[in-house]
Amino acid sequence: MSLQDERREYRYGRLNRAGLHGSPATQFDRWLQQALDAGLSDATAMVLATVDAAGQPSQRTVLLKGLDDRGLQFFTHLTSAKARDIAVNARVSVLFPWLSMGRQVSVTATVTQLPVAEAEAYFHSRPRDSQLAAWASDQSQPVAARQVLDDEFAAMQETYAGREIPMPADWGGYCLAPSCWEFWQGGENRLHDRFRYTPAAAGSWQITRLAP
Ligand SMILES: Cc1cc2nc3c(=O)[nH]c(=O)nc-3n(C[C@H](O)[C@H](O)[C@H](O)COP(=O)(O)O)c2cc1C
Repeated sequence: MSLQDERREYRYGRLNRAGLHGSPATQFDRWLQQALDAGLSDATAMVLATVDAAGQPSQRTVLLKGLDDRGLQFFTHLTSAKARDIAVNARVSVLFPWLSMGRQVSVTATVTQLPVAEAEAYFHSRPRDSQLAAWASDQSQPVAARQVLDDEFAAMQETYAGREIPMPADWGGYCLAPSCWEFWQGGENRLHDRFRYTPAAAGSWQITRLAP
């Protein structure tokens, strides 16, 4: 099979200017709800791109855990590779690949750290084993063997048996304040619909159709 023969038509309907909400966050919320209603697995997964001090981009998937007036939120280890990148360059981009719906949403943004209290509230809402795993893993650091992780997890189970698990100091949340959103809807004959939202006067957004 040749990769060049791998293609399909996108027949999920059109995206029109009249059908778009004036607020990109509301438009995003609509599409996210539709993705969830359609039963898409990992509909809240977004591919986060960061850039390091040398200008090298890298990407990884994280889960969207909040969306409000401030922006899009996720949680992670503050000593991870992505956190190191963010410390030197707060400009990032995320992509929601809702491929089975013939859709993608990409967002460019500036990141800030969420208040510790918010990270703690979310940390304590997670299943206990996920909280222990956060203690057991020094995210993005080399690990000699799987057994090391399992032993560390077992040690944490013992340490915190029968009591509340505190949030590790190197764990927290980030908020992405969007500077640009793009909504992409696959169309027939590769004539896809693309709309970009950029900031305009007084908190409003300018919407521009882009060629596919
Ligand atoms: C579906 C999915 C969801 C994930 N969600 C998160 C997340 O919310 N937070 C996180 O730190 N890592 C998450 N990961 C793991 C990251 O992709 C990544 O491996 C990890 O954060 C380390 O990235 P880094 O070394 O680039 O910092 C997820 C991975 C997948 C495949």
